[in-house]
Amino acid sequence: MAFNKISAGLTGFGSSLPEKILTNQDLEKMVDTSNEWIIRRTGISQRRILEDSTPAFKLGARAAKDAISDAGLEPGDIELIIVTTETPDYLTPSMACLIQNEIGAKNAAAFDLNAACSGFVYGITVAGQFISTGYYKNILVVGCEGLSRVTDWKDRNTCVLFGDGAGAAVVNAVEEGYGIISTQLGADGAIGHNITIPCCYASEEDNKARECDNKSVIWMNGSEVLKFAVRVMAQATKDVIKQAGITIDDIKIIVPHQANVRIINGAAKRLKISDDRVYINVDRYGNMSSACIPIALDELMKKNILKKDDYFVLVGFGGGLTWASALLKWQGGS
Ligand code: ACO
Repeated sequence: MAFNKISAGLTGFGSSLPEKILTNQDLEKMVDTSNEWIIRRTGISQRRILEDSTPAFKLGARAAKDAISDAGLEPGDIELIIVTTETPDYLTPSMACLIQNEIGAKNAAAFDLNAACSGFVYGITVAGQFISTGYYKNILVVGCEGLSRVTDWKDRNTCVLFGDGAGAAVVNAVEEGYGIISTQLGADGAIGHNITIPCCYASEEDNKARECDNKSVIWMNGSEVLKFAVRVMAQATKDVIKQAGITIDDIKIIVPHQANVRIINGAAKRLKISDDRVYINVDRYGNMSSACIPIALDELMKKNILKKDDYFVLVGFGGGLTWASALLKWQGGS
């Protein structure tokens, strides 16, 4: 979908991570795995894990406050909060309502959006529509996840992959021709059974696939997801760039979902771009689902890598299965 006339952009960034670090060496003591296997197959060295007593929304609130202040706004200026999550603390109240209360954003409507790891790009696309029509002026999008809460710590196929964290961005009007240029959202429910986290219902197959008593943990067909991910990350990037009439050579940097360094490198190879044009932090945090892209963005902004007029792409894939990409032109500032 092209954002031809609008000027909705990301103008403030924030992120928050739990203090507790779980290293590959720690995992070696928990399951039959090795630091060497995890690094070779995933690129992950460590991940952050929430303390049992801390709800994930607290991370989201900290990231949100930083993003609002980075945008030069106050919580009362925010008119809508969209929280992207597949690991809400409660089904109700939503994470968005919990964060609204925590940060004192009294004037904001609030809802959660679940598109798994693609959530943040779905979220800014929805926010961009509200900005482009003039319905709202200031929107907060928060990717907030506590994947450790749905991890089976005895399943070596999955427990080495995930971490907790939150990232946020403010979406509002920017100079015409800048900000979100185009986005592409996709879903294929027919292959959704490859990643499942049962919640209020679990089928017989779901229960059989999980060896632990808790049937609400994540299960994944890793190799199927890996093949899908490499293909869709490259294609979604190509599509969103083509839609805007530019080429891959015009892109300063790609900020991909951080699931596995092999997926990122595989997609980069298909796109024929060098590694230094792809942002990677999966080694430090693992897969934090919809929080990955906004956390990476916050890091990118703090490093001042983007200059005014630079194009950059956000691209993700995940449960559903879903995928999403966005092309942005940096308006400068922040
Ligand atoms: N340590 C040691 N060995 C392991 C481990 C481990 N942690 N995990 C699996 N193995 C073994 C397997 O049992 C298998 O052994 P076998 O050959 O004797 O059967 C062997 O390693 C190879 O297993 P594969 O699953 O084929 O390994 P693969 O190279 O596919 O890597 C991985 C597995 C890392 C899970 C990969 O498939 C992957 O990253 N997939 C994508 C996952 C993803 O991106 N999910 C995103 C969405 S998640 C969400 O929405 C929250």
